[in-house]
Amino acid sequence: MKKFHTIIQKQLLRWYDANKRDMPWRQTNDAYKIWLSEIILQQTRVEQGLPYYNKFVNKYKNVKAFANANESEILKLWQGLGYYSRARNMHAAAHQVVEWHNGIFPANYDELLKLKGVGEYTASAIASIAYGLPHAVCDGNVFRVLSRLNANDTPINSTEGKKVFFHLAQSLLNHQFPSQHNQAMMELGALVCKPTNPLCGQCPINTFCVAHQKNTIDKFPVKSKKQKSTVIYLHYFVFEYKGHTYMQTRKGKGIWQGLHDFPHVEYTGKEISPEQSIQRIQHTLAIGKMDVIKISQEYKHILTHRIIIAKFIQCTLHKPIDTKKYSLIKIKKAEINKLSLPRLIEKYYIKELQ
Ligand code: ADE
Repeated sequence: MKKFHTIIQKQLLRWYDANKRDMPWRQTNDAYKIWLSEIILQQTRVEQGLPYYNKFVNKYKNVKAFANANESEILKLWQGLGYYSRARNMHAAAHQVVEWHNGIFPANYDELLKLKGVGEYTASAIASIAYGLPHAVCDGNVFRVLSRLNANDTPINSTEGKKVFFHLAQSLLNHQFPSQHNQAMMELGALVCKPTNPLCGQCPINTFCVAHQKNTIDKFPVKSKKQKSTVIYLHYFVFEYKGHTYMQTRKGKGIWQGLHDFPHVEYTGKEISPEQSIQRIQHTLAIGKMDVIKISQEYKHILTHRIIIAKFIQCTLHKPIDTKKYSLIKIKKAEINKLSLPRLIEKYYIKELQ
């Protein structure tokens, strides 16, 4: 395969020039903007990422402005993308860039790796796209393209697979044009070498693709069986007292740290009846009498190793809750959406409270 690398690189770039989607982060080599776009694009597809990118770039023109922002403001702009730890890490990384590098992202892979939330993928993307350094990127799209191109059946989600495909990506890298090459590989994966129904007829490198030649495209990439997810059940209580409800700020180190949710009862592994949760919460928050108005359908949120299944129980109270004692926030229902919310709560709000 190696002797064909130069031709593959050329065909790829020609295809990319003619077919790439016109995106604002492709018109710049400002490392701040590349960093923003790459972190967003780890969370979502290119089209869905675009409005988020625009919101962030318009609000914070450079990394200094980003570092000076309030974390809650950043979380609010991030809302809908999920995995809020990414947004919190971005804030920390912006501070590091300001403090360690005088507000300029370092043009060095190892230094980039030291920034909070910047892993191998992001460091390679910034190094190559912003600074033209010869680091190959390996995201899901690139894994797929390479596994088909080489008909390589190493599972892409294994440690071995990460090594193998990273090595293949690096050996195929075009050292003259690392930025365009990396983006071309990702774009090819997104537009042509798609997970299902790939458009092999339109592929600029199909004559070099071993899986295509052998008619085994649907066998690649190989994934090893996933580890089982833990199921977590949440019963959220949407209390109402004189037009207000109660929320809390999530503390600790969890994925929802700093976000707001309703008082709740949580179970791991098996669900307990809403009646039992109701009794428990009445006791914990010293609620006394209340009327249960509605129990919602299930809302599901799927994370890497966890599935969260939530129900929202709407209740009218007969007396207010002691917010100080239980660290709660009293808030008008219509204003909930001003707070930064986990995706699950946002979905419920849009569907049932708005
Ligand atoms: N996915 C993540 N970053 C990308 C980029 N720069 N081009 C295409 N797809 C991407």
